[in-house]
Amino acid sequence: MKNFVRFAAVLFWALAVGAAKTAFAAGATEAQMVVHVDQPGPVIHREVYGQFAEQLGRGIDEGIWVGVDSPIPNIRGYRKDVVEALKAIHVPVVRWPGGCYADEYHWRDGIGPRAQRPVRPNQSWGGEDRNVFGTHEFMDFAELIGAETYIGMNVGSGSAREMADWLEYVTTNGKSSLALERKANGRDKPWKLDYVGVGNEAWGCGGHMRPTYYADLYRQFATFVRSSSGTALSRVASGANADDVAWTEGVLSVAAELIDVYSVHYYTLPSGEWKHKGSATAFGEADWIATLRNALRMDAIINMHAAILDKYDPAKRIVLAVDEWGTWYDSEPGQSPLYQQNSLRDALTAAVTLNIFHAHADRVRLANIAQMVNVLQSMILTEREKMVLTPTYHVFDLYKVFQDATALPFELQAPDYALGAVKVPGLHASAARDASGGVHIALVNLNPNQAAELKLQLKGFAPKQVSGRLLTAAEITSVNTFDKGGTVRPSTYSGASLQSQGAVRATLPAKSVVVLDLK
Ligand code: AHR
Repeated sequence: MKNFVRFAAVLFWALAVGAAKTAFAAGATEAQMVVHVDQPGPVIHREVYGQFAEQLGRGIDEGIWVGVDSPIPNIRGYRKDVVEALKAIHVPVVRWPGGCYADEYHWRDGIGPRAQRPVRPNQSWGGEDRNVFGTHEFMDFAELIGAETYIGMNVGSGSAREMADWLEYVTTNGKSSLALERKANGRDKPWKLDYVGVGNEAWGCGGHMRPTYYADLYRQFATFVRSSSGTALSRVASGANADDVAWTEGVLSVAAELIDVYSVHYYTLPSGEWKHKGSATAFGEADWIATLRNALRMDAIINMHAAILDKYDPAKRIVLAVDEWGTWYDSEPGQSPLYQQNSLRDALTAAVTLNIFHAHADRVRLANIAQMVNVLQSMILTEREKMVLTPTYHVFDLYKVFQDATALPFELQAPDYALGAVKVPGLHASAARDASGGVHIALVNLNPNQAAELKLQLKGFAPKQVSGRLLTAAEITSVNTFDKGGTVRPSTYSGASLQSQGAVRATLPAKSVVVLDLK
C-alpha cells in the first residue's frame, strides 16, 4: 500500500511536470525578474487611477445620467448599473466638464430647475448640451461613487470673475448670496472640491495661446482660486501636448510658484497620425505592436516634462498629472461623437500605461483616463438599457490593489517582441507592497504569439502563498459586446508556483495581463 501511494505520488508529479512542460513547450520565452521588496519606493497615489468625463456625445447623457423618470434603473437619475460598476473599481477622482468643452462651458447654465436650463450647442464636439447634468449633478455623482472632484474652469471664453463665482457657489459655507442660491437649489453643505483646472489645452482648443501668454493668464486666474470653506484647492495648470517641452518650459519659467499640478495630455493612436488614426476593431498584428509601442512612449514623455519640473521644482511639490490619456481611434459611421469599441489591445495599453505611472510615482500623482463611459478608451459602454464592461475596465479592476500601495524597484530581463522593424519589450511590469504587507506584481506579456516563463526572485520577502488574476482572450481583436459581454474578462490565475525561499515561477500566457498577489 505504501509503495502504491509512493508510485501514485511519483506518477502524479510526472504528469504534473509533463503538463507544465507541455504548457511551456510551445516556444515560451524565458524571463527573469528581481523585485526588491526590502527597498520600498514612493507611494502610488490612487489618483493616478482617475477618470475623465466630458460633456460630449453619450458620455454623460445616457452613459451616466438618464434622469429620474427613466425606465432604466437609476439612483436619483444616475444609471444604477454604471454607478455600481464604477464603485467596484474604486474610482478615486473624476474630471469634468472638459476637455475642450470646459472652455465654452458657463456654469450658470447648469444650475436651477432642470427643465428651465438652456440648451447650448456643443461647439467642440457637436450636438447640444441640455445642461441637465450640471454642478449639482456632477458633485453629487462624485459623492455617490466616492470620488474626489476635479472641475475644469473656463479660461478660454470665461473670466476670472465667473470662475471665482463658481468656486464660491461650490465651496462657501456662509451666508453669501451664492451660498444661499446653492442651498435654494437643494444643496445645503458646500461640496468638497479637490482640483481646479485653470483652462484646458490652452495651446489649442482652449484659446490657441502662446505659453507665456497662458502663463500670465494662469497667474491671474490662479490668484482667484480660493475656497471660503478652508478646504485646500489644488490648482492645475494646462500643460503640454505630448512631447511639447517648449510649452512646459514657457509655462513653468513664468508661473511655477503658483502651480500645484501641471498637466500633460498624451493619446495613443495606432498610426500616430491624427488624420487616419486606425480602427478600434479591424486591425492586425502590425497595428497591435504599433499601438503598444506608441503607448510605451508615455515613459519618455513623462521623463521629458519631469526633467523640466525638476529644474523649477526640485522638491517635487508640483504634481505632474497626465489628466488625459488613452487610445483614440477613427470614429465609426453612425456612432455618437468619440464613441469607440475597446479590445484586448486597449487592456494591454492601459496596463502598460499604469505600470509607467507607477514607475514615476514620485512625480505623477494624478492621471485621468479619457474617458469614463461611451467616449474614447472607456471603462463602460452603454446602449439604451444595456451596459457592458470593457477590457480596460477589467485592467482597472485587476490593478486596484496598486492604489496607495508602495512602489517596489525591480529588474526585469525578457526578450523583446518584434515584428518587422518594430520592437517593444516582450514583458512589462510593476511591483508594489500594500499597507497590509502583501506584494502585488503586474506582468504584461505584449507578445501575442508566445507565452513567457518567468523566474521571479523577491528580495527581503518570502511569500507563503501566491495567487493571481489573469486577463486575456482568444484574439488580439477580442471585444466585449452588449450581447456577449464576457469575451474578455478576468479569470483566476493558476500559472504561478512558489519555489524555494523568495522564488516564484510563473507562466504568462501570450497577450495577457496577470496580477500576482503574494502573501
Ligand atoms: O478627450 C477628448 C478631448 O481631447 C478633450 O476634450 C481635449 O482636451 C483633448 O484634445
